[in-house]
Amino acid sequence: MSYRIAFIGFGVVGQGLAMLLREKRDSLENNFGLEYIVAAISDPVKGCVYQEEGLDLERILALVDKDGHINNYEKGIKGWDSAKTITDSNVDVIVEVSPTNIENGEPGITHIRTALNCKKHVITTNKGPIALFYRELADLAQKNNVALKFEGTVLSGTPAINLSLDTLAGADVQEVKGIMNGTTNYILTKMAEGQSYDVVLKEAQRLGYAETKPDADVKGWDAQAKIVILANVLMGANLKPTDVPTQGITEISLDNIEQAKKSGKRYKLIGRAWKEGGNIKAKVSPELVATDDFLYHVTGVTNALTFSTDVLGKVTIVGPGAGKRETGFSLLVDLVNIHIASK
Ligand code: HSE
Repeated sequence: MSYRIAFIGFGVVGQGLAMLLREKRDSLENNFGLEYIVAAISDPVKGCVYQEEGLDLERILALVDKDGHINNYEKGIKGWDSAKTITDSNVDVIVEVSPTNIENGEPGITHIRTALNCKKHVITTNKGPIALFYRELADLAQKNNVALKFEGTVLSGTPAINLSLDTLAGADVQEVKGIMNGTTNYILTKMAEGQSYDVVLKEAQRLGYAETKPDADVKGWDAQAKIVILANVLMGANLKPTDVPTQGITEISLDNIEQAKKSGKRYKLIGRAWKEGGNIKAKVSPELVATDDFLYHVTGVTNALTFSTDVLGKVTIVGPGAGKRETGFSLLVDLVNIHIASK
């Protein structure tokens, strides 16, 4: 089976997927019978090009590396915006990786609605549309008989969504709790080593962990979107981000961190969703954790989630929560799973 793919957005995450598609072409074909071409990229900053027979990914990635954009790509049609690329390009999978907007989901929500209505599969890491409109989009995908996959919205390629939906299918998730923002965990870890907040935040941005607007990380909104996604998708809730009391890490000073250290504790930004009296509640806040708490030992950009279930008790996953290759991988997994499900 051969898939034709269009990228809507070509920032860090999109480039991460493009690298993996280039690197794993042979193994995906040999192991899964999965073949693909990338026919279109549309990004208002990096450039737009559509080449029906498939872009030369090697050349595209070299151009981004050298020029910071793909405007000098030698072939294809240039200048198609996202709407035209989604509706008019001859592709069957839309990779929606435009910047996350947790307030109204745009432009991602329009991209996803349009793609699903055009009967194109959607794979995305875009938290805004999924946190705000999951149920509508899931229904739209079903109505159009296409897939909507979003593993990378929570914990990048670490299998937070697929683990629960597939591997734990049939278990009742009573609580999900953990560290779900890599940037803040990285900042808190480095601050505990004595580095200053501003320096570490810049480093997190350079490494591609931080959101376009770092407020989204440090004020807890990114973790808020993720806990809403987990609650709605895994626990059947119908929460909006504004339903979730949220506090970030901006009030935590080096002094606070030193004090915590003296008492053998560490600050962690914890998100949790739990069942209570027939309702699902959620919150995000910094918590002090002691050495006997597993989360104490989860440092740097690493994330961890514990699912409390009726049948297995607690199941915990630990893994990367951000990064170019790690988040690119989540999109690859979604593509492979669409392929497997179609067999
Ligand atoms: N900014 C996010 C984080 C990226 O730091 O976890 C992954 O959603």
